[in-house]
Amino acid sequence: MSKEGIVKLVRPDLVNINGYVATRSPEDVAAAANLPLSEVIKLDANENPYGCSPKVLEALSKYDSFSIYPDTGQVELRKLLAGYVGVGFERIVAAGGSDQMIGLITQLFVSPGDEVINCPPTFDIFRFAVVKKAITKKTKLIVLVNPNNPTGTPTPQKDILELLDTGLPLLADEAYVEFCGETVTPLVKEYNNLMVLRTFSKWAGLASFRIGYGIFNPDIANYMLNIKMPYSVSTASTIAVRESLNDTDFLMERVKAIIAEKNRLYEELKKIEWLKPFSSNANFIFCHVLNGTAEQIYEGLLDRGILIRYVSHPLLKDSFRISAGKPEHTDTLVKAIREIEAERA
Ligand SMILES: Cc1ncc(COP(=O)(O)O)c(C=O)c1O
Repeated sequence: MSKEGIVKLVRPDLVNINGYVATRSPEDVAAAANLPLSEVIKLDANENPYGCSPKVLEALSKYDSFSIYPDTGQVELRKLLAGYVGVGFERIVAAGGSDQMIGLITQLFVSPGDEVINCPPTFDIFRFAVVKKAITKKTKLIVLVNPNNPTGTPTPQKDILELLDTGLPLLADEAYVEFCGETVTPLVKEYNNLMVLRTFSKWAGLASFRIGYGIFNPDIANYMLNIKMPYSVSTASTIAVRESLNDTDFLMERVKAIIAEKNRLYEELKKIEWLKPFSSNANFIFCHVLNGTAEQIYEGLLDRGILIRYVSHPLLKDSFRISAGKPEHTDTLVKAIREIEAERA
């Protein structure tokens, strides 16, 4: 069958779909900047610059049963996560990254024609009034990222309580909770419409393993277990979780170093007169470009092998988001921004 032939058979509602715009790969950036891969500085995806716990690597190298399928009921994994979070095992379900968990939650609550409210990425303190106004009979899910991405701003608990009182399913995405320490998890017992989403991608340095999990009302957790694909979290990921949780003191020291570097990055960016950085509760800094364009800075940094996130949302124009890296990454970044400034002067 020709390509045209099979494309005609793609579902009509998906035929013109635009996928997630992935960031440039470090290999691509290294080639374009004519640099060795090891010199590329990746500050675009809020990954952990220090990597994972060495205990993860050691345990994986010793494991000898990768030929056996993982436990589809995730019993060990769910117990480990329940112990970490401090809730009952029956409330936890894991998935291949929190992205996959968002997909499952959407499948469970949202039918074609229904509406999801995704809180807009603004600093507008009135956004909760806007969110509540946006609720219609078709609304089946509210998604709230806290701290917010890309701005890094926290949401006051009273706003979350107000949304919970609507009775609608509310998904609180706490991907950056280890960097801010504020969580609504204790409210899950009281509000059965609250779901909390977490990940091992950021604080534990395990983004490539794809480990996300949700904290639910036990009935919803059961539904999630029933609709997920079997074997969706690998044994390697379960080992990685076990060993990370055996090494939380070490990992949280690194989290502290990342927070300190994020604060320094904020202070350094503040010194650049034509930038307006915002203080953040996560592991990144959001920044407006007041003079010139954010795209210009993004491209100039790419040419020097530095990847940041260019933000081109209608509500957040001329902005970028920079992940906190190691101290030497901040130094190289700031020097490069000053070079770009000198070039355009
Ligand atoms: C708010 C938020 N949620 C979820 C994710 C994705 O996490 P995971 O790697 O677990 O899919 C990210 C990644 O950047 C994020 O910023």
